[in-house]
Amino acid sequence: DNVPIITVDGPSGAGKGTLSASLARTYGWHFLDSGAIYRVLAVAALHHGIELSDQAGLSPLASGLDVTFQSDAEKIRIVLEGEDVTDDIRNEVVGNAASKVAAIPLVREALLRRQRSFAESPGLVADGRDMGTVVFPNAMAKIYLTASPESRAERRYKELKAKGHDVKISRLLEDIKVRDARDAGRVTAPLRPAEDAYELDSTGLSIAQVFEKAKEFIDNKL
Ligand code: C5P
Repeated sequence: DNVPIITVDGPSGAGKGTLSASLARTYGWHFLDSGAIYRVLAVAALHHGIELSDQAGLSPLASGLDVTFQSDAEKIRIVLEGEDVTDDIRNEVVGNAASKVAAIPLVREALLRRQRSFAESPGLVADGRDMGTVVFPNAMAKIYLTASPESRAERRYKELKAKGHDVKISRLLEDIKVRDARDAGRVTAPLRPAEDAYELDSTGLSIAQVFEKAKEFIDNKL
């Protein structure tokens, strides 16, 4: 219970993943990408032909979800039911499906224990929407990372372009707004900063600048 935890919450595309991964590397701590769990669950539902609104079907799927996170040299490989889904879960269709299953209270409940099991010595950096508010309310340092929807859409656009995907920035902005509204508007664990979170706006900041600000905040708590 006294494993030190850093939580990084915020809307999609604010740079949480990049920040969390560099914090985990810097401190030599474990890393939980909770969004990946919701993404994997959405993929599992599609595989098993379970509808994204089917509570009775999704809740047992969530509690028994056969997913492992395997660290190899550089990357964390995500394996669902024996199949590597690391790259398959990183698209807007899956992200959107994830935000639908994530709106179901029984699903969130079913995934709580699994998420908390990542808190192991020497420490954990947990990335998500409700890490500081629900999953790890006693975390030592909580960061809420935001950025304007436009700058988040632009970041996504560059990422996807670099991977060779053909996308429209206006469409990405629309998707971001829809997903924000769903994540912030849901009844269970809505997206919002914890009361004791450091709110960091990354609009116009470089990755290095965001990292420095976050690290300074954390080092004051260590
Ligand atoms: O962070 P990422 O984009 O991978 O998350 C995908 C979706 O999973 C989010 O839009 C959100 O609906 C859901 N999610 C959540 N709680 C978390 C992490 C992700 O509801 N802790």
